[in-house]
Amino acid sequence: MNNVNEKVHNMLCEVYTAEIGAIGIYMDQHTKCEDLGLKKLAEILENDAKDEMKHAEMLAERILFLGATVKNQKHALPEEKQFDVVEMLQLNADIEMKAIARLNEGITICFDEKDHGSRMLLEEILKSEEEHLTNLQTMVNNIKKYGDPYVVSQLM
Ligand SMILES: [Fe+2]
Ligand SMILES: [Fe+2]
Repeated sequence: MNNVNEKVHNMLCEVYTAEIGAIGIYMDQHTKCEDLGLKKLAEILENDAKDEMKHAEMLAERILFLGATVKNQKHALPEEKQFDVVEMLQLNADIEMKAIARLNEGITICFDEKDHGSRMLLEEILKSEEEHLTNLQTMVNNIKKYGDPYVVSQLM
């Protein structure tokens, strides 16, 4: 296809860039949690990173399919010294909330520009981010409610 709409193209590249940032942050937390002995949480974070990688891949494929190029832009970086589990999970919840807002906005752009192929892709990614967010919020709430016993039994 060679009929790329500039608004859709720019938006898809923005969504792509955010995914690349999220992959790095979640993988960084994955290794930190593994080092802290939080095996189950490390696995959850690794799986989230893999989901974001899949999203980035689908976005790049879509951009190329539309006959455009993937613009590599500056993305978010992991925090060097972040070892507090609740802080990590809250940061991720914030990343997911921003992703959900960005995707909802992107879906509106696709509607306006009549690119329903791209819209359907964003909708699929949106549902995945909503899952990530609800799981993160559940973990934060449970840590606050049940404290260490929850961490030990569910996240180690
Ligand atoms: Fe994602
Ligand atoms: Fe996500």
